[in-house]
Amino acid sequence: MSQNFQEMTEDIVSHPLFLQLKSCPHHGGENSLYIHSVATAKCAYRLARRFRLREERVRALTRAALLHDFFGYDWQGERHRRFMHRFTGWQRIRHMHAFIHGAHAAHRAGRLFHLDQRQMDAIASHMFPLASWPKNSEAWLLTLADKMVASKEVGETVGWHVKGWCRRIVPGRQKPEQ
Ligand SMILES: [Fe+2]
Ligand SMILES: [Fe+2]
Repeated sequence: MSQNFQEMTEDIVSHPLFLQLKSCPHHGGENSLYIHSVATAKCAYRLARRFRLREERVRALTRAALLHDFFGYDWQGERHRRFMHRFTGWQRIRHMHAFIHGAHAAHRAGRLFHLDQRQMDAIASHMFPLASWPKNSEAWLLTLADKMVASKEVGETVGWHVKGWCRRIVPGRQKPEQ
């Protein structure tokens, strides 16, 4: 029997560790990692339906997409900065967040939500071409969904900043009445 998006994802979106993503800013503006992950999962779900994936693979891809950035550390925080300082030169580049967070997310999500190998591979390679080559159809659709959503979010953030600047610099602009 086919499931809708909510039925496929409700155990993950209500999990306390996943809810923590609401407090992680992502791609600027008012966006969070939670908003980004849900939007990527919805986009992946639509792509999977469009490409007529088998029902169990639609579910697998949608859940993998929801967890693709579930790496579980603050990459802008002091702890990650100290971790990075253990490396120099090329090794430091190789350990930058952009290169490693897919593998971390795959490991953490796989442990908590019992993912199969294809889902883990899809999550690990979602940063392609900064990560390894996608190995299966779910991996290609996940990296595509992530890039589509990320581009939209970055575009919206630019608009959000421009609106903020305009509000500050346009002379004679009245504040709305309370
Ligand atoms: Fe990512
Ligand atoms: Fe992402």
